[in-house]
Amino acid sequence: MTKFRNFLAATAVAAFALPGIANADGTVEVLHWWTSGGEAKAVGELKNAFEADGGKWIDSPIAGGGGDAAMTALRARVVSGNPPTAVQLKGPGIQEWAELGALNDVQDVATSENWDGVLPPALAEIMKYDGKYVAAPVNIHRVDWFWANPEVLAKVGVTDMPQTWDEFNAIADKLQAAGITPLAHGGQPWQDATLFENVVLGIGGPEFFLKALVELDQDALTSDTMIKSFDQLRKLRGYVDANFSGRDWNLATAMVMRGEAGFQIMGDWAKGEFLAAGKVPGKDFVCAATPGKGFVLNSDSFTFFKVSGDDRVKGQKKLASLIMSPGFQETFNLAKGSIPARTDVALDKFDDCAKKSHEDLLAAIESNSLVPSMAHEMAVPRSVRGEFMDLVTNFFNSDMSSEDAVKTLAAAIKRAQQ
Ligand code: GAL
Repeated sequence: MTKFRNFLAATAVAAFALPGIANADGTVEVLHWWTSGGEAKAVGELKNAFEADGGKWIDSPIAGGGGDAAMTALRARVVSGNPPTAVQLKGPGIQEWAELGALNDVQDVATSENWDGVLPPALAEIMKYDGKYVAAPVNIHRVDWFWANPEVLAKVGVTDMPQTWDEFNAIADKLQAAGITPLAHGGQPWQDATLFENVVLGIGGPEFFLKALVELDQDALTSDTMIKSFDQLRKLRGYVDANFSGRDWNLATAMVMRGEAGFQIMGDWAKGEFLAAGKVPGKDFVCAATPGKGFVLNSDSFTFFKVSGDDRVKGQKKLASLIMSPGFQETFNLAKGSIPARTDVALDKFDDCAKKSHEDLLAAIESNSLVPSMAHEMAVPRSVRGEFMDLVTNFFNSDMSSEDAVKTLAAAIKRAQQ
């Protein structure tokens, strides 16, 4: 670890030597993975605001929902001694890079703008390393959502959204009998893991979710509840269309928009796609929490890598301040489908799905049923998340039994922790 830290320190100096286009008001090269319609619109709000404030924005988008491709690109950039100025990075990933000495802090900005006073304490902690802010949060996404096309559900006489997985299965059976794809899904590991964690929340509840997917408790991972979770995941496998494999998540969202499928189970970045396509919440699409009476948290944030050169360090501080500004938190989240990370931004302009998210967030904090998303890099180290994704995707694409799945999963998680 020390060798890599020294290497990073040396390359940060090397980065200084690289020819940069100095810009009086700060320059940032930003690595992110927001390339779908709604995502691009949202990140465009950040770019426009940064440039309107005199900054120079160099865009480095890495396509691939969920961010795994972006994280691979990040590692290559850092190893080659040329880290980006700012990077979309979340949860334990922030701590992993900070531990390596790769990040600049923005504590001076956070102190002068009282970030501690306007962020949920649990979120503020995720953004800090060694007591200093090394990341700025742009939003609070919720992962445990159903998105549905009400016209499609009406075709089988359904007007209410399911409250349990049994109710979902009953509606899905009706849709399937009518020749309609019940579940629009993209067969990619992070999307399969998104289905999995939402099922675990509904079958086992928030406490079990924390025990199994965050504390990695072996008894929980091999329990009857986990077997039942895989049984339900097997049911969902039976509700997707024949061409699901490899599909991008936003193309699954488009299937619901076009009435080719009844539901999508996805985080509320899917709402950003509906909105970018001009769809009206409550009319063209409806949202409802998936079963489990919890809140699966996924917060996007930007970290600031050790780069030298005054214009880039200045750009980092300008970007950090902009990200946390109330005005940006409103405009960005209206487009992204999430709600502001700041607790003092009014939701008057937000739709009912966002207001429901905010209401359920407060309730979840109150009842201790707020859980960090494993699928979206908020809960466990990268190596452990990788084992969950490998097993779940293997299960989803084979006839593996639930009993074998829990045994294989528990053994893989144990290995990843050694
Ligand atoms: C998540 C990210 C969201 C959205 C989604 C799909 O990990 O937090 O903002 O981009 O991936 O790409």
